[in-house]
Amino acid sequence: MDPAEFWSLGDYSVIGDLWAQAGRDIVASLTVENKDIVDLATGTGVSAIAAARRGGRSVIGVDVTQSLLEEAAHRAETAGVKPQWVQADMHQVPLGDNCADLVISTFGLIFSAEPLEALNEAKRLVRTGGEVVFSSWSSSGMFSHIRQALAPYFPDAPAPWHEDPEDIRRLVGPQAIIREGWFTVEVNSPETFVDLMEKHSAPIILGAQSLGPRWPEARDALLSTVRRWAEPSALGTSLRASYLVTSVPVP
Ligand SMILES: C[S@@+](CC[C@H](N)C(=O)[O-])C[C@H]1O[C@@H](n2cnc3c(N)ncnc32)[C@H](O)[C@@H]1O
Repeated sequence: MDPAEFWSLGDYSVIGDLWAQAGRDIVASLTVENKDIVDLATGTGVSAIAAARRGGRSVIGVDVTQSLLEEAAHRAETAGVKPQWVQADMHQVPLGDNCADLVISTFGLIFSAEPLEALNEAKRLVRTGGEVVFSSWSSSGMFSHIRQALAPYFPDAPAPWHEDPEDIRRLVGPQAIIREGWFTVEVNSPETFVDLMEKHSAPIILGAQSLGPRWPEARDALLSTVRRWAEPSALGTSLRASYLVTSVPVP
């Protein structure tokens, strides 16, 4: 299935908001003022909008899914910022060489079928002295544990290259600087979280379709994993999620 069709399953704008804090925190940890920034696989524009609000000189959000870019444009207007939105595949971005100081990709580049190609395309956009920064779920965190709980149902799924710093360095190179961050997903209950994923997460929707009658069993495995991460909170349930942020300097 082509990526735009895949990411149009469900409604990413609903579930993307569950982890939008990570994108905002990552941007807050970077120096973006007076920099030209490209946000690859921007989705609803969380990181692009954060970069524009924090004083990026120019911000361009690139994504293959038109409906998400429309949502991003709407959110940017509400936020009073004006990133540019470009519909394109992250492996072939219609922007010139060395057009950016910083390329960000929050939980985007990790979905590339050809991650090294996507990384090289990101580097092509960056001027000397700049960097490519991307995030991924960390092997010790809830999202990786969800993947691990579902893995027996999808024996053909490739092992991820982005959950462990050593695996990331093996692909990206030893110069990668990797740190761990975390945030909490706030929901009414673990059931609410699983319901939302089941309705709106493209990978879960497609996975459930392919499992057919085995999905309820896999869903139980998903729910018990989420329950293990649940802590009581004002809204009902707080789920701690950890992630890795990889910075690749462009010499
Ligand atoms: C998990 S979402 C992340 C979105 C956003 N960066 C965020 O932090 O919420 C993955 C995004 O990657 C985009 N995407 C997937 N494959 C792509 C490709 N080949 N080229 C461009 N965008 C792609 C999807 O459309 C989707 O918006």
